[in-house]
Amino acid sequence: METGEAIHTVAMTEQKAFHGWNQRCSLFQVVAQIEQKMNACSLYELLAICWETGQISAIHNHNDQNCWMAVPMGKLIVQNYHILDQDLDAGRCRIEKADVIEMDPTDPVAVNPNSPVRKVFNPREFGNRAISFHIYSRPFSSCTVFSEDQKTCRDVDLVYTSEYGIRKDRAVC
Ligand SMILES: [Fe+2]
Repeated sequence: METGEAIHTVAMTEQKAFHGWNQRCSLFQVVAQIEQKMNACSLYELLAICWETGQISAIHNHNDQNCWMAVPMGKLIVQNYHILDQDLDAGRCRIEKADVIEMDPTDPVAVNPNSPVRKVFNPREFGNRAISFHIYSRPFSSCTVFSEDQKTCRDVDLVYTSEYGIRKDRAVC
């Protein structure tokens, strides 16, 4: 089995388990966005992120790691970006919009390692909450975020809202 095929199998298995769990829990009543760390080892980690309508991520990279995404519920848009130039030490960059991808339960995506900068959002016009699974290999604890308008970039630490179903104290990120 190829790596991509194996990852897809993991995502689909977790997707079925997560769907039943979500039906039993008032997940979205707790916080606007929850990251649920579901499974992890030194080679990969699996996150679930819940999206209210209108929610949008920062423009970010993936710290030179591989990333696969599946959306078991709802639909999400991925806006990819090209980096024109970047000076992380000075906090300056120029980026431009590239292609747009729509993700839904039948269309998982893999982050292109050669073009890893993107934002993800749940447009209000979709009118539904969404859930996304993210498989990172290897796991990473920080990434670079970008501002297209301000032409700035900086490294940020990543935090989990919960791990293995246990809610964590909210950390500032
Ligand atoms: Fe991402």
